Amino acid sequence: MSEQNSNSHKTLRDEALYILKTNSRDHRYTVPSDRLYPYQWNWDSGFIALGYAAYDIDRALTELDSLMDGQWQNGMVPHIVFHEFEEHYAPGPLDWQVPSHLTAKPGVCTSGITQPPIIGTVLARIYASCPDKEAYHLRFATLYTHVKAYHEWFMTKRTSAPAHDLVKSLHPWESGMDNLPCWDKLVDDVPRGDISQFRRKDLKGDNAAQRPHDSDYHAYMSLVYHYRAIGYDSIELLPQAHFKVYDLVLNSLLLRSAHDMAQLAQDIKPEDQAYWQAQIHTLTQGMQKLWSEEHQAFLNQNAFDGQFLMPLSCASFLPLFARAANETQAAALAKLYTKWREIYPYSVPTTDPESPKFEIERYWRGPIWVNTNWMISEGFAAYGYQDIADTIKADTRALIEEHGFYEYFTPEGAKGLGANHFSWSAALALYWLF
Ligand code: DGY
Repeated sequence: MSEQNSNSHKTLRDEALYILKTNSRDHRYTVPSDRLYPYQWNWDSGFIALGYAAYDIDRALTELDSLMDGQWQNGMVPHIVFHEFEEHYAPGPLDWQVPSHLTAKPGVCTSGITQPPIIGTVLARIYASCPDKEAYHLRFATLYTHVKAYHEWFMTKRTSAPAHDLVKSLHPWESGMDNLPCWDKLVDDVPRGDISQFRRKDLKGDNAAQRPHDSDYHAYMSLVYHYRAIGYDSIELLPQAHFKVYDLVLNSLLLRSAHDMAQLAQDIKPEDQAYWQAQIHTLTQGMQKLWSEEHQAFLNQNAFDGQFLMPLSCASFLPLFARAANETQAAALAKLYTKWREIYPYSVPTTDPESPKFEIERYWRGPIWVNTNWMISEGFAAYGYQDIADTIKADTRALIEEHGFYEYFTPEGAKGLGANHFSWSAALALYWLF
């Protein structure tokens, strides 16, 4: 690395540290961004904890502890924990109205759905990098129990007989990729409820072209109010859900987490080995149902009718992160990646750039995200495609160097989009890039 590069990386590292410091609340949890997302989000906190782990194991574990403050009695880890009321974000706790008996800790307010389960993987990474495992044993063991309960919830409450081999998402927010074009038809079909009591608060400045449409929000909130009316944690939830997807993000991250938890169990709870191996086997087999021979890629699937949901998206690469692909499938995904990379100079866009649904600036319909890039890069490296892994890393680094720690970026490299000083972009830069 040249001296100039190394100086600029030091400056970027300092900036990333500063972002985590200013987005940290009460030294316990971290908001994704000060204005746009002023609560604690599930998968955000996972990526953020990786950033802390690069320099402060204690703070990394505290990030996960604070997320677990919101865990439900049934094991679900909700997608948002509302530690303190904040007027700048909606839907807030009064929209969700989660009954207090559902959360394990009294007095904690949460949303009523989940998000992609990255936290098992994160816990295992923190453990691996911890220089004094003895001193932190109890904290790791406690978090391990929480994450295992989360897996158990997915495998019992979000699968269906007879196979129980893939989990379903019940809301576009559960995939973390809110307005991915794959959901369009299902979102259109959501019965619209009365959402007159709801006001969007995410439209700030001139960001409307970068955010989901009002019609999407009408569907998102209709689902929230429908699930609220059912009471969330009920046997009625799955049969009555108005949105049901065998989701690539949820299933890939759950499988990856099962691998990592199995590794962690060797030190923390060896008797759980059979449990994890059974789950790895089940999910790995299930993931093969999401492979499309026709498209030579993994695809999300409509859980109502079993149809694949087009277009191809960055989620199509996540089974590599999960180690669910075979060598032939990995080769096909490498070919797909290469084709996309020839269209735009930066990778990996959220949606197939040749799809008519591709939108270069709109949230999960085209832009590049740092967290998906990290997972896709790791996935390609694991299958021996180090050149692709390195290109994705170099692209991500270049976008941050050029624009700063934005939430997402245009694939032609012109702009940083969404929130600036975004926590997971800073955290993953510390963990992965600089
Ligand atoms: C948002 O508010 O945009 C989030 O993605 C929902 O969790």
